Amino acid sequence: MQGEQGRLPAGFLCGLAAVPGVGRIVGCIICSMKQYQTIEQTIGGTPLVRLQRIPGQFGQERGNVILAKLEGNNPAGSVKDRAANSMISRAEQRGEIKPGDTLIEATSGNTGIALAMVAAVRGYEMILIMPDNLSLERRAAMTAYGAQLILTPANQGGMEYARDLATSMQAEGKGKVLDQFANPDNTQAHIDTTGPELWRQTDGGITHFVSAMGTTGTIMGVGSYLRSQNPAIQVVGAQPAEGASIPGIRKWPEAYQPKIYHPEQVDAFEYIGQHEAEEMARRLAAEEGIFAGISSAGALVAALRVASRVQNATIAFIICDRGDRYLSTGVFN
Ligand SMILES: Cc1ncc(COP(=O)(O)O)c(C=O)c1O
Repeated sequence: MQGEQGRLPAGFLCGLAAVPGVGRIVGCIICSMKQYQTIEQTIGGTPLVRLQRIPGQFGQERGNVILAKLEGNNPAGSVKDRAANSMISRAEQRGEIKPGDTLIEATSGNTGIALAMVAAVRGYEMILIMPDNLSLERRAAMTAYGAQLILTPANQGGMEYARDLATSMQAEGKGKVLDQFANPDNTQAHIDTTGPELWRQTDGGITHFVSAMGTTGTIMGVGSYLRSQNPAIQVVGAQPAEGASIPGIRKWPEAYQPKIYHPEQVDAFEYIGQHEAEEMARRLAAEEGIFAGISSAGALVAALRVASRVQNATIAFIICDRGDRYLSTGVFN
């Protein structure tokens, strides 16, 4: 975590310095070599910035502060770097996988890019299964990291079809499915890192946490950590309104609801229209200088609705990824 790298004293062992989430830039007392960060050690420690213009009458006039957590600053460009690193490194620590193994995942994009990056660094083969209507930039990023892509027909069930195919490939012995939808290591990433960062970055002053919901790992993990610090914190989920298509977020049919999802841990839901999310993505870039994806803008729409109802609140929301990932969709034209 940037900004927290100096927490361990210089002179730690190389081995300890390599433990994810523990080791940072420290020297080794055995070989006296300076230890540099590896790419996966730069995951997390993302900035939290205050919005200056968009909150308007719902901001300072009401004593509210709206804060954006810039997850697009992660090395593979999204909040999913945290989950991917956690799922692979923890499975490896438990001895369930080892470098050289093949990993399989059904992913709508960001998780795939993040898994491909971590797999490349740690020496795994990565097979990613995704519907064929997802943006070209995402596919290209995954292949750049060396992953193999299997594209499934979007008109035959989208992500549900992709998830079923991943499960059947695992049953045929073709690799191990990490299953971000059911994997507690997804949630744990946010209990260990994102939640504590938000708590520290607001000096414990955060009153509302708002997140778009895909696998729900982010909202479950951050919500759980923040509530453990202050049970009064409100956790708000942004979901697509009926008919809206917002990449990365879903309102899952009952049978496909993520196993890591516990609806009772979300205090309120806001349903976001596609047009208002896209419009907000353009405003985020043009008025705040934050070039972000559509689901991030959807989370901001939800945060503003919260701000319109409360006073003297510190509302933090997640910027899941960067706008570059959506250029080919034409949304910023
Ligand atoms: C663009 C985007 N937004 C939001 C999310 C939601 O994050 P989570 O899966 O932690 O709920 C995702 C997850 O894949 C995503 O890719």
